[in-house]
Amino acid sequence: MSMDYVMEPFKIKMVEMLKQTTREERIEFLKQARYNMFSIRSENIAIDMQTDSGTGAMSDRQWAAMMTADESYGGARGFYEVEAAVQDIFGYKYAQPVHQGRAAEKVLFGCLMGPDDIAIANQFFDTTQGHIVMTGARPLNCVCDEAADIYLDAPFKGNMDTEKLEALINEKGADRVKMIMMTITNNSAGGQPVSMANIRETSRIAKKYGIIFVIDAARYAENAYFIKTREEGYQDKSIGEIVKECFGYADAFSMSAKKDTIVNMGGCIGVREDEDLITKVRMRTIPLEGFINYGGLSGRDIAALAVGFYEGINESFLKYRIGQVQYLGELLHDAGVPIQYPVGGHGIYIDCGVMMPHLSWDQFPAQAVSAALYIEGGIRGGDLGSLSLDRDPDTNEQQKALNEFCRLCVPRRVLTQSQIEFVARTIIYVRDHAAEYPGYRILKETPLLRHFTVDLEPLSPIK
Ligand SMILES: Cc1ncc(COP(=O)(O)O)c(C=O)c1O
Repeated sequence: MSMDYVMEPFKIKMVEMLKQTTREERIEFLKQARYNMFSIRSENIAIDMQTDSGTGAMSDRQWAAMMTADESYGGARGFYEVEAAVQDIFGYKYAQPVHQGRAAEKVLFGCLMGPDDIAIANQFFDTTQGHIVMTGARPLNCVCDEAADIYLDAPFKGNMDTEKLEALINEKGADRVKMIMMTITNNSAGGQPVSMANIRETSRIAKKYGIIFVIDAARYAENAYFIKTREEGYQDKSIGEIVKECFGYADAFSMSAKKDTIVNMGGCIGVREDEDLITKVRMRTIPLEGFINYGGLSGRDIAALAVGFYEGINESFLKYRIGQVQYLGELLHDAGVPIQYPVGGHGIYIDCGVMMPHLSWDQFPAQAVSAALYIEGGIRGGDLGSLSLDRDPDTNEQQKALNEFCRLCVPRRVLTQSQIEFVARTIIYVRDHAAEYPGYRILKETPLLRHFTVDLEPLSPIK
């Protein structure tokens, strides 16, 4: 992989100034936040890489569309614009805007499954998994073995293990399996892509057993770019052609538009042709989200969404976008920083158990790295290791994660190349001084999703 990547395919028209803070101030801000990265006030963060969701920069065209949006309750123009975009880009007849990805899950899954049913995916995202459980059904993951080897150089580590999938359907009984889902890219596996061949084979299995095949489409455009650049036979196809082929294998999609569709708030359900399904979707949308023409969004949001669908699949944008994440990955990889490799589509994952060998897993090395990156560079990442796992509900034991990851997501169209280089330099500095950073202990926690609100304390004073 070469160290240079395509330059930013945009120019900056409006800027948001960053507050300059000192190292001493940041140590104090961290203390005030009780060492919880979520609780640091964002005004005191220079480079926020906590998530790529809803944090992208909208374009002048999206802002212009917002100014002329239609705020009517019934028959609002934006709805028809979204519907036309979904028909054009995905080849699906029906679209239902909703306020974000988890709203799409809530509306759609209630149409498809209930108690004792099963849903299978390559890997469910956590809210997706939560919404399946809330219907009374059980989510099962069937990701390929390559996903577990974080240093294995393989092109499509987000794939479904299709042999395992078929065995699971036979074991559980096809009539109990009410949905097969493909998350593209596979967020829970580090944003690793899924190949077209794997989508095709999964679709074949779904059809064979008469099970609906749904795409979790949050990062559909990034996945298409990986297919174009990594899968035999797709180099000469446009992103538009790849997206259409990919969605042609599925029956429906559930989308958080806060990622590849580059809006700050929005989501969408797409249904290829099943009139019964879209009727049910619309019936549930009205009480859960709002009338079908606005689906829990303002007309302004929907107008930005309709434009974002097209901007997200622009090839020069994707080349820069994926290139920027890969560039950060290459800077770190070349410097010997232990990261998941090859890097996925939307961020980098530092293997903090390896980077902080003086800390045991229950001293939360990924929290230690997150805190150190904030102290040294005002950068916010987040712990995706043992701290982000709740205690075992039966034994109350602290659970150990497979990997102590610190995740740094790259927001879309937000960071410049020199900011990316600054991030790399800061990570390398922290790696070089790893032994100086303390581990953490928990002072206060809740039983559910504790990492959002946990209070922590360093095991020794921060120097
Ligand atoms: C793959 C995937 N599905 C669903 C969601 C949920 O979307 P939202 O945050 O818009 O509710 C996310 C969000 O990160 C995601 O990455």
